[in-house]
Amino acid sequence: MHESDILIIGSGAAGLTAALNLAERFKVTVLAKGAMNEGATAWAQGGVAAVLEPGDTFESHIEDTMIAGAGLNDRAIVEFVVESAPAAIARLEKLGVPFNTEGDALHLTREGGHSHRRIVHVNDATGWAVQEALLKAARAHRNITLVPDMVVIDLATSRHEERYSGAGHVWGVYAFNRATSRVELYTARTTILATGGAGRTYLFSTAPRGATGDGIAMAWRAGCRISNMEFMQFHPTCLYNLEVKNFLITEAVRGEGGHLINPVTGKRFMSDYDAKRMELAPRDVVARAIDAEIKRDGLDYVHLDISHMPAEFVREHFPNIHEKLLGLGIDMTTQPIPVVPAQHYTCGGIVVDRDGRTDLPGLYAAGECTQSGLHGANRLASNSLLECFVFGESAANHIAANWDSLPTPPAIRAWDESRVTDSDEEVVIKQNWTEIRRFMWNYVGIVRSTKRLERAQHRIKLLREEVNDYYGHFRVTPDLIELRNLLESADLIVRSALHRKESRGLHYTIDYPETSSAAIDTVLVP
Ligand code: FAD
Ligand code: SIN
Repeated sequence: MHESDILIIGSGAAGLTAALNLAERFKVTVLAKGAMNEGATAWAQGGVAAVLEPGDTFESHIEDTMIAGAGLNDRAIVEFVVESAPAAIARLEKLGVPFNTEGDALHLTREGGHSHRRIVHVNDATGWAVQEALLKAARAHRNITLVPDMVVIDLATSRHEERYSGAGHVWGVYAFNRATSRVELYTARTTILATGGAGRTYLFSTAPRGATGDGIAMAWRAGCRISNMEFMQFHPTCLYNLEVKNFLITEAVRGEGGHLINPVTGKRFMSDYDAKRMELAPRDVVARAIDAEIKRDGLDYVHLDISHMPAEFVREHFPNIHEKLLGLGIDMTTQPIPVVPAQHYTCGGIVVDRDGRTDLPGLYAAGECTQSGLHGANRLASNSLLECFVFGESAANHIAANWDSLPTPPAIRAWDESRVTDSDEEVVIKQNWTEIRRFMWNYVGIVRSTKRLERAQHRIKLLREEVNDYYGHFRVTPDLIELRNLLESADLIVRSALHRKESRGLHYTIDYPETSSAAIDTVLVP
């Protein structure tokens, strides 16, 4: 058994921000299911949104966030996050994140839905720089223990106490150690879930392999409310390539002048969908427009073209994308880039308040695994890393302020493997993974219908019996742990989508195309 003051599951922007804010006073353990830099944070390209120049205002960033979120955002939370942004950027600079500059000021790029240039960035690989700076600081801190390759299976709650107290408390986690293939118990006074999103429920996704909704699924199983899971964001421009399936082409390419063009007609088609904002309309609008062009003309992809800009400008702004594409035979300074929409971000998740508190005592959550009220029905570009920094810190502050009232963990039962054996049919797991991701893409994608959602729900019901049976009889493996969570996440998405009898933001259904006058969160209660 491993004991610490605070246990954090996830080593991305949210988890490490929380860790660094707690480590002066407390012993903190951070678990990651692979290497410490394998989450979505390291993959972020565009940047972080913050009001940093005199011509811009908090009010404008707040309005842009609410407009993208189709009015479903919690305005008080939006204000809190937007107003916290400049200080969050200053702290990242202090940690050594080398944001691009222009003269004495930070260089600001532009992305869809933003009415001002307000995205600070490190070329076109912001997330990598942020992840490295946070990890460097965490590694250097004597009170932070970083544990890679530890796949958390479930939360250890009052149900796992040796003498059940009935308190409904979270006391830590059970985790599968990849090195030993044993399940270990980690306990702490407080656990923070910072496990990222559930993008891999979809066949095509920009998200990393580990985005299987683990934190959302385990919080749900433990008794937390989950909200707004129908709002899965599709990024309009993922590279279309038969070998490289999930390479994002940052929205900043459109922000810096890129055009979307139908490869058959040669037409810049966004004028037919949002004549005012064109390529810089919010993501749901652009993704649906591309989807409509592809379906109408039977295309495999549309073109994103920035070759009309000077070659030097393109190379300077997008050095990593330029190089990656050159390696695939595309020179973006002279040729258009083939792109398709792909799942990109999970707007819904574990219900948290402004302090990152969940429904369960002893459990906090931050980052993409949460529904904090910031994003509403559609996340505004580059508001997500910002949410990680702000809530990572607010959760840490709340824990520190209430430390003396937090009880110490009682004795917790060890993981019981007495009734399971080793699996003899790993192929079942692989088959079910693929099946889930395929029907989610086909039935629960950009444009939905009740009939397709019901089909998906039927598949989930059948698969659940199979997965539960498998889980009950065989020793856990990382793939099985993820499959179980992937299925739980898919179920939460489909149930939420069926619950919403309107179209709003990212949720568009042909059966209820109108937006209702009242904006109401979907809240699933376990
Ligand atoms: P992550 O960074 O995803 O980290 C999750 C952590 O949880 C990992 O350490 C993982 O190992 C751990 N974990 C998960 N499950 C388990 C488990 N069972 N056991 C143990 N550990 C577990 N947002 C922006 O604001 N700006 C951008 O420019 C931007 N660009 C993006 C580009 C791409 C390609 C993608 C995919 C996303 C982008 N986003 C962007 C979104 C943003 O990167 C993420 O929302 C954000 O990084 C999430 O951070 P996080 O800390 O919540 O989780
Ligand atoms: C991008 O660079 O287009 C991604 C930005 C984001 O997801 O916020």
